[in-house]
Amino acid sequence: MVTGAASGIGRALAVALAAEGAVVVVADRELEAARAVAEELGGLAVGFDAGAESSVRTLISEAIDANGPIDIFISNAGVPGVTGGPEAATEVWDETWRVNVMAHVWASGMLLPDMLERGEGYLINTASAAGLLIQLSSLTYSVTKHAAVSLAEWLAIAYGEKGIRVSCICPQGVRTPMLAQAMSEPAGAAALRQGGLIEPEDVAEVTVAGIRDERFLILPHEHEQVAKQLALKGWNLERWIEGVRGFARDAREAGDES
Ligand SMILES: NC(=O)c1ccc[n+]([C@@H]2O[C@H](COP(=O)([O-])OP(=O)(O)OC[C@H]3O[C@@H](n4cnc5c(N)ncnc54)[C@H](O)[C@@H]3O)[C@@H](O)[C@H]2O)c1
Repeated sequence: MVTGAASGIGRALAVALAAEGAVVVVADRELEAARAVAEELGGLAVGFDAGAESSVRTLISEAIDANGPIDIFISNAGVPGVTGGPEAATEVWDETWRVNVMAHVWASGMLLPDMLERGEGYLINTASAAGLLIQLSSLTYSVTKHAAVSLAEWLAIAYGEKGIRVSCICPQGVRTPMLAQAMSEPAGAAALRQGGLIEPEDVAEVTVAGIRDERFLILPHEHEQVAKQLALKGWNLERWIEGVRGFARDAREAGDES
């Protein structure tokens, strides 16, 4: 099952898994678009709201009733939050938190009892490089994606020896509709351009390889740039904050001049 699979990365993941022979459930709040994807790959489409616990529960229980146990659950649906900092409206914080974090919590809480009983199962969260480093344009996005990474780490540590595999997908910029918001702010756009923009199909290809290797951290961008930044952040947080602050200032000044 892939959530948020009507578009972008989720759609590419669904297509790639179907090509590997999986029966894919395409779950999204955009049911018509989900149907189009499901038709293309001979899968099933389900409408649901990742931001509502009851909807996530219904999605999973109905899928299990119809098709039996879920082998791989990719909790991929996400929202960009808003540009800016803590001034974001509480309603925005709430929605971003629910979709980017609680959807993973609800899904794993619902799936784990059955997976643990079977002694196997695979939980995959799409977080973001923003969850390891930062998303300069949006505090709501940064905070929720950090929580999503932490959640995946916790699950991998707690259940890794009980047959549960966990992976966390952490791309930088990927050409999907979601990119528009980050690209509209100079510092966010500069960081994404520096990392290089890749296609959703690139993410899917690296993810399928990561599933084969049962790798926890899936970094679809080449040249280990996220891993290197993460190493610098861990090694000297003061220097990393200073460096990123300077990068953001330069990008915003250049943006103001253009
Ligand atoms: N595009 C990027 O640069 C990028 C980088 C890193 C991580 N990500 C993450 O990848 C995931 C997929 O994003 P994308 O870039 O493919 O964006 P996208 O906008 O193309 O796709 C997101 C999908 O999630 C669905 N969705 C959103 N809220 C939902 C809800 N409440 N219930 C059900 N479905 C919902 C949308 O309808 C859409 O089909 C997200 O978690 C995003 O944060 C994206």
